[in-house]
Amino acid sequence: MRFSHLSFASILSLSTLAALTFGAFSFDSHIAFGQNANYDESKVPQYVLPDPLIAEDGTKIDTPEDWKNIRRPEILKQFQTEMFGKYPEADLSKIKFEEIFTYDKFLGGKATIKVERVYFNAPESKPKMDLMIVVPNDRKGAVPAFLMPNFQGNHTTNDDVNIPVSVADETIHNKDKSPDEVRGVAKSRWSYERIVNSGYAIATVFYEEIDPDFDDGFKNGVHPLFTNFDVESGDYPATISAWAWGLSRALDCLETLPEIDSKKVVLLGHSRLGKTALWCGANDERFAGVVSNNSGCGGAALSRREFGETVKRINQSFPHWFCANFHKYGDRVNDLPMDEHELIALIAPRPVYVASASEDLWADPKGEFLSALNADPVYRLLGTDGFGGVTEEPDVDVSVGATIRYHRRTGKHDVTDFDWEQYVNFANSIFGAQK
Ligand code: GCU
Repeated sequence: MRFSHLSFASILSLSTLAALTFGAFSFDSHIAFGQNANYDESKVPQYVLPDPLIAEDGTKIDTPEDWKNIRRPEILKQFQTEMFGKYPEADLSKIKFEEIFTYDKFLGGKATIKVERVYFNAPESKPKMDLMIVVPNDRKGAVPAFLMPNFQGNHTTNDDVNIPVSVADETIHNKDKSPDEVRGVAKSRWSYERIVNSGYAIATVFYEEIDPDFDDGFKNGVHPLFTNFDVESGDYPATISAWAWGLSRALDCLETLPEIDSKKVVLLGHSRLGKTALWCGANDERFAGVVSNNSGCGGAALSRREFGETVKRINQSFPHWFCANFHKYGDRVNDLPMDEHELIALIAPRPVYVASASEDLWADPKGEFLSALNADPVYRLLGTDGFGGVTEEPDVDVSVGATIRYHRRTGKHDVTDFDWEQYVNFANSIFGAQK
């Protein structure tokens, strides 16, 4: 497939550019990004995407069996070797769950909150994560659920003072603030009422409880537990792989809870955690669906477009997110054996939702759309309706597609109630409406 930059020509005005430099910064980011990046569509280089349906030896993949047995393992290996590093391995018999909290009066009595403490190396008390689960009280049986990690602690997702504080031992977030100062600060991202009223549960965990988000040579968090970690190798499980592995352990825990229908869990992540959700969903096929919210570079956005954040830039700013091999591609993205449409294809045939935001050019909305589009042939080969015939970027605030869905919400890098409305509809399309 060949894409010419000319077909995507849309030159941004200077005022948009000025807004962008500021708009690319979010409170999830600890450095101001955006300067010196390319936001000019006419400067997107020409590129050829790897074809997900041509095997490394040149064979055309035209049956679901060949996808499953030949091509899918090849692509998974490429991402493991060249980008995220190996998927972690650890002694799972050391994982233990302990219910530490329940509260049945959340949302005015509509929902129960339960906190399960997940010990990663029992009987050691650390590392551990507190998985908070919100379940509708009027449920008739086990309910489908969303799993979405949070950026600043479970207690930041809602104002309710009963929510136990979750804090990582080492963190880049809220280091100098008391838990009460930050309680509820991220509540606009958590549409608990909508989710519960629609008959879904939602589970969340503070991502830095799995692995702190800074470069310490992989000594903290869950890294010491990985039996396939070798810092001298180029393909060690880096931090996104560690977060992904932690989310798989969260699903292990959900599988033990009678109130959750664990075969119906949609994994959702925003930004760096959107990259994580895609990678986790690619490796852990128990997730019934995956949502990438503004995941950008290293997530849904095509690396070869070099629009907004680039492979070079992300490796400089966040050297711990990806394995050492990925750092080699900063100046030669065209040599990557894969691109991000194939990360989405790894989730096939399970439903996937790619969401962008109109002002979030740092995450390259068009590159995210093109990934969704170019994953379509794999979804179709596997017998789904793929992107449902979508070929052009939709208008803002319109959700399009079928098994692959996409929208570009008006506004900034964020998760909003508009996004949640689409994700609940997406879950309804997979599992049937719950109410
Ligand atoms: C930075 C980073 C992005 C990332 C984002 C976030 O902006 O450059 O790659 O997605 O932080 O996680 O908020």
